[in-house]
Amino acid sequence: MTPTPHLAARMATRFAATGALLLATTATTAAGLNDDGAHQLAAKAGCPTCHAVERGAKGPEGLPPIGPAWRDVALKYKGQKGAEDALTKAVLLGSNPYDSHWKGKASGLAMPPNAVAIGKDDARKLVGWILKLDPK
Ligand code: HEC
Repeated sequence: MTPTPHLAARMATRFAATGALLLATTATTAAGLNDDGAHQLAAKAGCPTCHAVERGAKGPEGLPPIGPAWRDVALKYKGQKGAEDALTKAVLLGSNPYDSHWKGKASGLAMPPNAVAIGKDDARKLVGWILKLDPK
């Protein structure tokens, strides 16, 4: 049985909507992550266990957060050449506990490697979003 004209029209609308959605997604990727995408990606990779976006937020069980607030990361590295590469590497491979960049400012000694939880491209996108945060 062929679809009734009515149904065909509805299907066409559905496909048009999907097309628009795909275009929207592509546009977001090209321009970097939007806030929703960044929060989702971070949550999926488990970053919020150790990081908050805002400084002064509480960590697990009301203790100080384990890693630096991402606004502080933006403040520290904003405009620095190579920061995106270096931070993407730190996220994927972990940080060196003997060469902490946050000595006395984060309660954790080092960041463990996150490559099991996030891919290279997603890590770079998330770091790009972090570096674009308003540091104030
Ligand atoms: C188990 C805790 C933990 C998790 C999970 C974690 N981090 Fe970290 N992160 C830390 C700590 C601790 C530091 C501070 C490292 C240092 O002292 O140099 C840090 C530092 C960073 C830095 C700054 C690195 C630098 O060299 O200054 C970035 C960016 C970062 N984390 C992003 C992320 C992202 C993105 C995720 C999720 C994919 C994530 N972190 C998951 C604990 C964590």
